[in-house]
Order: sequence, then structure tokens, then C-alpha cells
Amino acid sequence: MSMIAPGLEPCYQNEAWVALIAKNAGCISIEAQNYGLIREGAGNAVLRAIPVPQLRDDYILVRTLAIALNPTDWTTPDAVGDDGTLVGCDYAGIMEEVGKAVKKPFKKGERIARFGHRGNDANPENGAFARYIAIKGNLQIHIPDSVSFEAACTVGVGVTTTGVCTLLCAQIAAAACGEGQDPHGSTATETITSQFAKLLGLKVVTTCSPKHFRLIKELGADLIYDYMRRSLHDTKVGEKTRAATDGKLKNVFDTVNVETSTAICADTIGPDSGVYCDLLGLDCPRLDI
Ligand SMILES: NC(=O)c1ccc[n+]([C@@H]2O[C@H](COP(=O)([O-])OP(=O)(O)OC[C@H]3O[C@@H](n4cnc5c(N)ncnc54)[C@H](OP(=O)(O)O)[C@@H]3O)[C@@H](O)[C@H]2O)c1
Repeated sequence: MSMIAPGLEPCYQNEAWVALIAKNAGCISIEAQNYGLIREGAGNAVLRAIPVPQLRDDYILVRTLAIALNPTDWTTPDAVGDDGTLVGCDYAGIMEEVGKAVKKPFKKGERIARFGHRGNDANPENGAFARYIAIKGNLQIHIPDSVSFEAACTVGVGVTTTGVCTLLCAQIAAAACGEGQDPHGSTATETITSQFAKLLGLKVVTTCSPKHFRLIKELGADLIYDYMRRSLHDTKVGEKTRAATDGKLKNVFDTVNVETSTAICADTIGPDSGVYCDLLGLDCPRLDI
């Protein structure tokens, strides 16, 4: 049985979701009202009463208890896309049901975390910012007993993104016999990247504000530079890092992704060229990279 909370209307803007729910009417065992943050027009997301999602064979159904924010959670609703999609990626919660094709040993009642695919026009209910969510089963992880729901929900997108990019950079570094990597800034992404890079044996050269020097040093950075000068970008910081690494630094991971950070990354790489890896698809200003 489901109830609509006072003041909330069910979200039926997305035809695909309406069709899905109609097709599976009567199949949902959880007798609870679901609520989710639903995209409704460009730049807008609204808390709505929504159906509990259908459990597909390779999915799990989770009752969320904590969520974490990523920049994509507010940039995706601003971008082109359908209305009616569920917003949000990172979550932690309790397993409610396990699809029959899920290979991981998950059981009802277990603590579970990682991420969903927000703003998914093909599968509008695939996001994470809802009370009950349907998530691709084999991609999720158990939460260790010593980790809180609040802490567990912060690892999904960040660790996956930086894990893939750092490994990619490390492989390229190994192939090119390079030694360095330059995760840029004290962003959430960089704080994870530095730790991965150190575990991979890379030398880490990075930039951030002086107030974050200590934190970034503790996380393993070998060289840290302030990228700001009297509230303006320090246009020389790329040259400084290149000089400090004798022009040998080959691999740069831009964990900020704005024009100025891209420029610093390009300046940092030595004259023998290298690899610029970023998160949002910005072009590197140096054509030889
Ligand atoms: N978070 C994720 O899981 C994730 C996943 C995929 C992609 N991304 C992308 O990665 C980028 C960073 O996201 P985030 O969540 O990691 O960032 P964040 O934690 O919000 O980063 C905040 C920090 O960025 C630094 N910063 C801001 N502007 C800067 C600039 N112009 N140059 C250098 N540093 C600057 C500042 O460091 P100081 O205070 O030290 O100055 C600030 O404290 C975004 O483009 C995002 O879309 C993020």
C-alpha cells in the first residue's frame, strides 16, 4: 500500500517511468511511501512522492540512510536531459531486496554503499537521492562494521573516479617511464588521488591554498604550491613545478577542471610532452600533450 504525503504530488512526468510502474504494478513488496529528489525543468529538482522502484534481476533495492553530494548532483539538472529522472549518486543504506542475477553475496538487512546513475534518461529511477533506490547490484559494496553510514556514503563516485584515473595515469607513466603526477588542488577528488598515487609509488606534485598545505602534506604530497597570488591565479605556478621537477614530469591529473587549472597543468609538463588527464573533457592548451 502506498500513501501520498500531504502537500506532495506523485511524480509522473517521465513517460518511461510511468510505463515501468504500470508494467510492474502489484509486484512491489515494500509497503512504504517513497520520496525522491526529481529533476523538474532545467536547473530545478523537487522532492516528490514517487513509487518504490521495481527490482530488476541485476539490481538491489536499498533503503538509503545517508547520501553525499558531488558537483555532478547540481550540474546534471542544469544540463540537457529529460524531466522526471532521479537526482544523486552517492548513498549508504540497508539492503532490502536482492535481484536474482546479482552475483555478489548480498543479503537483506546488510549495510551497503556506493553509487547510482543519476539523471539517467533511459532508466529514470536509477539515481540515489530517494528513500528507496534500485541500484546495479554487482557494483555495490558492503560497509565494514567500523565505518559509519555517513562516512561510507562519501566513497562511491570519488573513489571510483580517482581510482580509474590514477590507475590510468600510472599505467601511462609506466609505459612512458615517467615518474611524476600532478593532481591539482585540494579538491575532494585530489585528496583521494594523492593517497592512491602514493600507494602506486608515484611522486606527487600538487597545488592548493596555503590553508590546506598541512592536510595535503599529510595525505602524501611531495611538493605543494600555492596556485593563488593576491587572490589572482599565479600564472607562474606551472613553470615553478616544471622547474622543481627538472622538466621530467609527464603525467598530470587535473582534479579541478577550470581553464586556469588546465593552463597550470599544461605548463607543468616538461618539454618532452606527456599526458593530461581530466574529469570533464577540457582541452589541454598544449597541442603536443
Ligand atoms: N567529487 C567527485 O567525486 C567528482 C567526480 C568526478 C568529477 N568531479 C569533478 O572534479 C572537479 C572537482 O570536484 P571536487 O568535488 O573534487 O571539488 P571540491 O572538493 O568542491 O573542490 C573545492 C576546492 O577546489 C579548489 N579550487 C577551486 N577553484 C580552483 C582553481 N581555480 N584552481 C585550483 N584549485 C581550485 C579549492 O582549493 P583551496 O581551498 O585549497 O584553494 C577548493 O577548496 C569538478 O569539476 C567535478 O565536477 C568530481
